[in-house]
Amino acid sequence: MGLAVIDGQLELLDQSQLPQVERWLAIDTIPAMVEAIQALRVRGAPLIAIAAALMIAVRAEAGDDRETLLDAIETLRAARPTAVNLSNAMDVLRQSMAATDWRAALVEAADDLADGDVALCEAIGDHGAALIAPGERILTHCNTGGLATAGIGTALGVLRRAHEQDKGIAVWVDETRPLLQGGRLTAWELGALGVPYTLITDNMAAALMARGQVDRVIVGADRIAVNGDAANKIGTYGLAVAAHYHGIPFAVAAPYTTLDPACASGDLIEIEQRAAAEVRGVAGAAGDLCWAPADAPVANPAFDVTPAALITHWIMDAGVFDRADVANGALATGGAAKS
Ligand code: MRU
Repeated sequence: MGLAVIDGQLELLDQSQLPQVERWLAIDTIPAMVEAIQALRVRGAPLIAIAAALMIAVRAEAGDDRETLLDAIETLRAARPTAVNLSNAMDVLRQSMAATDWRAALVEAADDLADGDVALCEAIGDHGAALIAPGERILTHCNTGGLATAGIGTALGVLRRAHEQDKGIAVWVDETRPLLQGGRLTAWELGALGVPYTLITDNMAAALMARGQVDRVIVGADRIAVNGDAANKIGTYGLAVAAHYHGIPFAVAAPYTTLDPACASGDLIEIEQRAAAEVRGVAGAAGDLCWAPADAPVANPAFDVTPAALITHWIMDAGVFDRADVANGALATGGAAKS
């Protein structure tokens, strides 16, 4: 998962430098963890939640007092707005502090979140792989694998399971501008797993669909509303529109920790806006490159919302839901009410 607690210290693999440089960072303060989350050194909806929770556990074990830890929980909750996993995890930590031995309860709750995510990914992988027919060519976006979770991943976990089941799949990997999570991270992970993949730029996907070269799209999510609308990495909505036009199944894979029972529909989801420099050029281990005029006006929403009407399957840890399940309220009850 690119995250470890070693001798009471939290260490994380700096994903902003991958795949050129594999650099582990020791993170020992709340401000350093906020910076790591905001700079996408640690990223992916499930993993930022787990990183933040483990950071609180580390500070609890270091002896920080109750008020300091409660403040830290709220500071970390605000680090990124769109992925609800982070806020959900901070709620779990706050609740754990009601225990008499709140310090031990906090550490146990953080460990449970990390361990639990491993099992959630396994379930998603198994359910999702059952959907896939031999020889499918599957398109994915952003990075949803072992770098984004504590386990095998969500959408990428499904691809991994299908590959392990010798289904002979091939994966189209969207590079995922502006921060290139597909080109840098998903390509790196699939290569290491031996899953056949082909990297494309984002603007190639619709043309591949038109030529009949895409059988399915599977992506992750950062927040899923009760009505099934799903926020995910910018570009996901465009893929869903194109898939719908071409009659290609479009699945969102996510654990129940990505559900927001307080969010009725996707238009209520806050979308993170990021720095202009990410669009004017790229930064990373290979060096910074700015190709646009240095003062070019920029829009940089980090996520978009795909309406439920464009999604054919919600691959959750509880099972695979279709539109009828979602319309019957399956997501309102934490994805546990599969009909
Ligand atoms: O900005 P990022 O890289 O954190 O965005 C990640 C995504 O959009 C993923 O698709 C999502 O978090 C699911 S990760 C299992």
